[in-house]
Parts: sequence; structure tokens; C-alpha cells
Amino acid sequence: MTLLSPPRVADDGSVKLKAACTRLREWTAADAVALFGFESRPSVTRWQPYQPRTLEACARHIERARAWAHDAPRTVYDLAVEYEGRVRGRVGARLRPERVATLWYVVDPRCWNRGLASAASEELISHLLDHHSIDELRAVCSVHNAASARVAAKLGFRLVSQKSLVGSRRGLCHVFARTVSGNSAPASIG
Ligand SMILES: CC(C)(COP(=O)(O)OP(=O)(O)OC[C@H]1O[C@@H](n2cnc3c(N)ncnc32)[C@H](O)[C@@H]1OP(=O)(O)O)[C@@H](O)C(=O)NCCC(=O)NCCS
Repeated sequence: MTLLSPPRVADDGSVKLKAACTRLREWTAADAVALFGFESRPSVTRWQPYQPRTLEACARHIERARAWAHDAPRTVYDLAVEYEGRVRGRVGARLRPERVATLWYVVDPRCWNRGLASAASEELISHLLDHHSIDELRAVCSVHNAASARVAAKLGFRLVSQKSLVGSRRGLCHVFARTVSGNSAPASIG
């Protein structure tokens, strides 16, 4: 699967370049080093349920993600985010039988605050709504993860609750949700 973000045109006709060249694609085995380039950083995993990843752990993650891509019906997406021709993040979602999709996004710190997470998530959401029947989108992040909360807000999610993830490094988390109305795409063809 390849998803392309078209440049966004503002009201005055100008093209919004911020993260316009984001591209989502399935992982290849050769991406392990690029994934390691950011998933090995403590600043990236600080509010995540996992520790900084080794190169071997990155390779295993990619192997799992590639297997999810072949599941029928597909219930998990984990995609590489390319920016300016390099893998600079990952974005994903898990689809649950109750028609809820929970999203995640991770970006290389060298590219933070350029709109990558927002652009990549918008692209993924658009794909999910086109290919799956979904009533609600969700995102969960540590209450300390202000950047993640801001991304959720920019995607139109609202804070609906808090929950404590027992046994997770994240501790107390915000739960964000966005209701999807009238999404009746044929279930799980993507
Ligand atoms: C969360 C994360 C994915 C955001 O990626 P990104 O590409 O920088 O996101 P965007 O550029 O689309 O948006 C970031 C927004 O957060 C804001 N922001 C960044 N740091 C912030 C802070 N400490 N406090 C408040 N807002 C902050 C930015 O200003 C920006 O908002 P704006 O566009 O209104 O200015 C990135 O920080 C990351 O990978 N963090 C580690 C992994 C992680 O925590 N993932 C989320 C798990 S739930």
C-alpha cells in the first residue's frame, strides 16, 4: 500500500508545505536501521509502553508489521512514514470488533514539530475510513505527553477520559476519541 499526502492548499490559494511530502508505506526488512535511528532514543520511548529498541527489536517489529499486512481481515496497521525520501516515523492503528480504531504515531526527534505526525495520521485515518467500518477513532497517551495530546487535538479528537495503564511505563493516560458518523465502508477490505 502506498498513500500519498497531496499538498494542502490554503484559502488564499497558497500551498501549505508543512509535511506535504509525507508518504506512508508498508515496511520492508531493509528499514530496520532507519527505525532503529529513532526508536532507540529515550526521548522517543519516554512515554511509550516499551524501552528504547535495539536493532534486533526493530527488525522483529518490522517482521510483525509485515505479517499484519497480510492478515485477512486486516486488523492492525503499522506503516513507515517517509519524509523527504527517508523513513522518519511510523504510524499505525488497531481495529477492534466493536468498530473502534486506536491510533499511534511516532516521529524521529530530528523532525518533530513539522506536522509529520498530524499529516501521517490524517492520511492513515482517511485510508481506514475508506476501507473499514469504523464508528470511533481513539488515541491514548500519557498525561505528561503534551506533544501527543496536541496531535490528537489537531486531528479533531477530544479528551473523553483518563485511565491508568497498570504495568505500563505510561501510568496515567488521557483517552482521546473522535466519533465517525455514517462510515459504512465494507468491513476490512484494506
Ligand atoms: C508525539 C509526536 C509523534 C508528535 O510528532 P510531530 O511530528 O512533532 O507532531 P506535529 O508536528 O504534527 O504536532 C506536534 C504539536 O505538538 C506541539 N508540541 C510539541 N511539544 C509540545 C509541548 N511540550 N507542549 C505542548 N505542545 C507541544 C507542537 O507545537 C505541535 O503543535 P502545533 O502544530 O499546534 O504547533 C512526537 O513528539 C513523538 O514521536 N513523540 C515520541 C513518541 C510518542 O510519544 N508518541 C505518541 C504516543 S501516544
